[in-house]
Amino acid sequence: MRKRLIVANWKMYIETPDTAKRFITALKRKLARMSGVEVWIAPPFTILPTLPKGSYKLGGQAVSAKEGAHTGQVSAGMLRAAGASFCIVGHSEQRAQGADAEAVRAQFASVLKQGMVGILCVGEEARKEDGSHFAQIEEEIRSACTGMQAFANKIIVAYEPIWAIGALQAMQPQELEETVIFIKKTLSQALGREGGLKIPILYGGSVEGGNAHALLASGVSGFLVGRASADINSFGEILTTCKK
Ligand code: 13P
Repeated sequence: MRKRLIVANWKMYIETPDTAKRFITALKRKLARMSGVEVWIAPPFTILPTLPKGSYKLGGQAVSAKEGAHTGQVSAGMLRAAGASFCIVGHSEQRAQGADAEAVRAQFASVLKQGMVGILCVGEEARKEDGSHFAQIEEEIRSACTGMQAFANKIIVAYEPIWAIGALQAMQPQELEETVIFIKKTLSQALGREGGLKIPILYGGSVEGGNAHALLASGVSGFLVGRASADINSFGEILTTCKK
């Protein structure tokens, strides 16, 4: 049976290597007693190379597709050299700072060409009565994934409705189930049926121990967790719910 994948997006919540190492020590203890669950961690750039190797993967939260004279940017090659084996691309917090569809596609391609797994984030600002929010999800998947068949086994899609990120409540499982079906259909159109249907789909947006079980029933392969991933107790609750 396939393991459930729980990706911790630490954002800027964990700020120092010492805090991160304490988290990792506690995480290792928890993971030693669990099966059926896989953990990936995306720490801030400054912490990534300081973390020990373990039964988890390390990755980046964002990437630049540029090379050379670009102050403050980090490329896919630099991330890989620092120990990353995956990278989150197109997070709504990056898109809000100006990463448009073209930039996200270039970033996604640079991650995949480095042999890393690309976690493509997609999601609408708001749900619309007439269902028009589906067009945004579709466009974000198409613009990044079309023509990427060769990398299909390195692609993960994280569906993160923007309105549910850092919110009081996660999305309702039934709405999520409907959206997962839509994402699968769009992926199989963009990448071909065979490759597209195998892409794992994660959900992100206010996931915590109390709602993880219900959300899993929607057919997702796991979660991309923000706030609750930076506290070992709340992250542990999610892992306990997801283990098999
Ligand atoms: P929260 O879990 O804090 O809602 O964040 C979700 C997210 O943005 C993960 O990438």
